Amino acid sequence: MLMAPIIGHRGCAGHAPENTLAGIRDAERVGCRWVEADATLLADETVVLFHDDTLDRCTDKSGFIREIDWIEALKLDAGRWFGDGRFVGERIPLLSDGIDCCRALKLGFNIELKTHRGEGEHLGQAVAAQLSSTENILVSSYDQNALTSFRKTQNDCPLGIIYDDLPKDWIKLADDLKAASIHLWAKHLSKEAIDEVKATGRDVYVFTLNDRLEAKRLWAMGVDGVFSDLPDCVMLEA
Ligand code: G3P
Ligand code: MG
Repeated sequence: MLMAPIIGHRGCAGHAPENTLAGIRDAERVGCRWVEADATLLADETVVLFHDDTLDRCTDKSGFIREIDWIEALKLDAGRWFGDGRFVGERIPLLSDGIDCCRALKLGFNIELKTHRGEGEHLGQAVAAQLSSTENILVSSYDQNALTSFRKTQNDCPLGIIYDDLPKDWIKLADDLKAASIHLWAKHLSKEAIDEVKATGRDVYVFTLNDRLEAKRLWAMGVDGVFSDLPDCVMLEA
């Protein structure tokens, strides 16, 4: 197994603001050995951890993440929206801060390459350039251009392809990219899809599971791991 049976989703999104260092620390605190976070590009091509196309939901400002630079990103509060006051002042982290945080906590890190406007090639290159070591790192994406661009520089890093629904012709791309895992949306998951991927020797990870009985059912079906916003709740049955 490449990752772990339970992976903190967007850090630990049920307990702390998503894609923040506080969230990564919370994932470790509740017992995770791996976390996932979304890496995206700013206007000046700085790589930060952020999920949405817009700033509106997870910061105190509005606008597009792709249109601000790092100096502007530094001024945003990415924790106040979470509600209870504990995370006021939390910043949007640099990808490099996320990597350092995971290394310090001895957490594996699934970096999802998150694109919104066809910037996959640039994002793949930028993230590849930042990984001086790929130990305990797995890079994944929905975006084939991002993965292809990443793979050009990083020949050995474990790589996962994300699908909402496994397409018929998935194996060609997985072979071309030397993908080690396939990440599937729980909503469209089937036993056939799990078996098809597992038959090629690849791991299957499923997002997003916050219900312990449902996670247990998926493990019994052969799934290697689940992404969870509430990893501690899912762990009760691990
Ligand atoms: O990487 C798995 C999962 O995070 C993909 O969906 O939208 O939460 O990034 P999303
Ligand atoms: Mg993600």
